[in-house]
Amino acid sequence: MRPSRATIDLDALRHNYRHARALGGGRALAVVKADAYGHGAVACARALEGEADGFGVACIEEALELRESGIRAPILLLEGFFDVEELPLVERHDLWTVVATPWQVDALERHRASRPWRVWLKLDSGMHRLGLSPDEYLPAWQRLRALPWVDAMVAMSHFSRADELGHDSTRAQLATFDAALAQLPAGTPASLANSAALMAWPHSRRDWSRPGLMLYGSHMLDAPRAEADALRAVMRLESKVIAVRELAAGEPIGYAGTFTTTRPTRVGVVAAGYADGYPQYATSGTPVVIDGRPGELIGRVSMDMLTVDLTDHPAAGLGSDIELWGPRLPVADVAARSGNSPYRLLTGLKRVPLRYAGQGPFPATPPS
Ligand SMILES: Cc1ncc(COP(=O)(O)O)c(C=O)c1O
Repeated sequence: MRPSRATIDLDALRHNYRHARALGGGRALAVVKADAYGHGAVACARALEGEADGFGVACIEEALELRESGIRAPILLLEGFFDVEELPLVERHDLWTVVATPWQVDALERHRASRPWRVWLKLDSGMHRLGLSPDEYLPAWQRLRALPWVDAMVAMSHFSRADELGHDSTRAQLATFDAALAQLPAGTPASLANSAALMAWPHSRRDWSRPGLMLYGSHMLDAPRAEADALRAVMRLESKVIAVRELAAGEPIGYAGTFTTTRPTRVGVVAAGYADGYPQYATSGTPVVIDGRPGELIGRVSMDMLTVDLTDHPAAGLGSDIELWGPRLPVADVAARSGNSPYRLLTGLKRVPLRYAGQGPFPATPPS
């Protein structure tokens, strides 16, 4: 059997959630969209249920997957509904929804609800993606508040550059958000912080936080923070050496000969490639872990295989364990070597079976 796999440490996930929630000081919505950033949404939500104040997903399909697997905790549609035909489903499955564009406000006004709704109204405080402009915000709030079946509302916004600790835009977004919040009734619950903001921008910590990436043990902060040091990697992507080549100096390795040996070299061929989600253009020198010790990728990554330098690892050989990212090797470090982000790498796994480890409750195998 192909030896590549990803092991998901659910204890680390719970540790990171507790850390995020403690930092925020309020309630924390665990963001499990995109199949929990590639970690398996159902397994992760089950591991957090009972602890997490709720879950954030990208769309109704993701919410229904959680409900169908028995998750009863609150679930928020982070982009709201895409179509009015989703509204009965939102209601039937007791989902919370973001409202982020004028047409969604109009649609809710036309809707006739049969149960109370909770709506998170999103302000565009400067990211200019989703959210109502500051001018649109208060009128939209008042229109929704006037609907008898809207029984609770949360004011929210999202940061574009919270991982850049020296950048002014987060401060500007905070000021824009607070100006809008000041026009709402006192005590209106608010939600701003994603992972980076939770760790690096204390003023963004409000009633609800929305950690995503940090739950999975990674971050993109551009300066050291103790808050990030406490995270534990959740995914370990691993494979094994399936062949060893002894090459003289001056020999090219792999497609396009991007690496030529400069000394007699022992090359380990590893059963993982870009079709598994490992970045195709990770450069020679990208870190790997060979039987627990730091090593390097050499040559271009191919579809199903990649090559590592075993020359300084005399005990390593056929069957050696290769960690491609995980507790010993931050996925962000691998991402940085290929112009990628940890978000992209974690959500990009394909073909690799997920295995779960850690204390229950969790399924022994990924739910189908
Ligand atoms: C609205 C919203 N909130 C929170 C998050 C979580 O962000 P992060 O993974 O950076 O913590 C996301 C993710 O993109 C998001 O879209």
